[in-house]
Amino acid sequence: MLSQKYKDMISAPSVIRALAGYAQERGKEIGYENVFDYSLGNPSVPVPEEFNEAIRELTKTLSSSALHGYSPNPGNPDARTQIAESLKKRFGIPYEQKHIFMTSAAASAIAHAVRCVTSPGDEVITFAPYFPEYVPYINQSGAVLKVVPADTESFQINFDAFESMMNPNVQAVLINTPNNPSGVAYSSATLKRLAEFLNAKQKEYGHEIFLISDEPYREIVFQGADAPYVSTFYDNTLSCYSYSKSLSIPGERIGYVAVNPAAKDADLIVPMCVQISRGIGHNCPSSIIQMAAARCAYLTSDLSVYETNMNLLYNKLTELGFTVVKPGGTFYIFPKALEESSEAFCEKAKKYDLILVPGDSFHAKGFFRMAYCIDTEKVERSLPVLEKFVKEEYGR
Ligand SMILES: Cc1ncc(COP(=O)(O)O)c(C=O)c1O
Repeated sequence: MLSQKYKDMISAPSVIRALAGYAQERGKEIGYENVFDYSLGNPSVPVPEEFNEAIRELTKTLSSSALHGYSPNPGNPDARTQIAESLKKRFGIPYEQKHIFMTSAAASAIAHAVRCVTSPGDEVITFAPYFPEYVPYINQSGAVLKVVPADTESFQINFDAFESMMNPNVQAVLINTPNNPSGVAYSSATLKRLAEFLNAKQKEYGHEIFLISDEPYREIVFQGADAPYVSTFYDNTLSCYSYSKSLSIPGERIGYVAVNPAAKDADLIVPMCVQISRGIGHNCPSSIIQMAAARCAYLTSDLSVYETNMNLLYNKLTELGFTVVKPGGTFYIFPKALEESSEAFCEKAKKYDLILVPGDSFHAKGFFRMAYCIDTEKVERSLPVLEKFVKEEYGR
């Protein structure tokens, strides 16, 4: 018999994917260059040449089995060592090879981390607005996702709501900074308060509360932003990293879990991830991509285009009277819509070939997301269109 659970999920497909599909179809009619497609978070800047060069060099120097064979279950040992060393150097935390578990990007890192620190029925708390894939990531593990409503003034953590939702069933808290969709980075003050609160609750409940820190945008931070490394604030942190956005290689599916060495039972977590892999059929990312990514542990693509695009959009949006928090990183911006229903707002924008994503998808009604990982030239051409849309539809 087919599983009812997955059959039911078919009828609730991703709104973002549906909008991206619409943009492609519209592109066939009017030329994709005329569709201002702000739907998908697919990086647009090229991979750094060093990544391609690393692959070329590896293929010239290593044996076929080293390149294309299975890697050990936790990942390629050299890659894990290089990553541990780079994190230690950058953030001053004494990571070693044994604290790094190679994954198929952040999605897989979160899938492992959540299974490691929860049992079915346990609660995992996250904060709105959040990446909608957290629902399947968490719920398919058997844990239950609970969402703290957004602090819509700042998109930092709404601590009053968080404190009222906290209870002994909460085994993990999942955060994402800099954040998709708001673009906001949690400040040092926010992370300090979060750590103090969790430490107090661990004591009160008599069990650990792990912090799962989803960090695909860790390297995409704008000038002046306070975007510290989460694990330096709280010992029981599992950092879930991805090279998808920093190296522009989402199709290569590569990332890792980095276990803070001071976490409770830190040495058990990577071996536990290995056991989790056996059950979820993950079984190691591609060997050659692990090695190539680790060689680029200190590198990123040229990410400056995202800050250029953000400034163009932020300035135009504020000029047009939108309420919007200035992003500290990522390639997203999350303004308030000009009517109560952001779905209606985004539907009207489609008439102008502006493809915007309603905030409802991110558990924040009344807002909309623009993913500006597109060419700056297209962002520039979209500004008068945005102005026309706002003027004609809302008289501004
Ligand atoms: C906040 C967040 N987490 C996780 C992911 C998953 O990315 P990946 O599995 O490619 O690293 C994404 C992708 O857009 C994201 O925005």
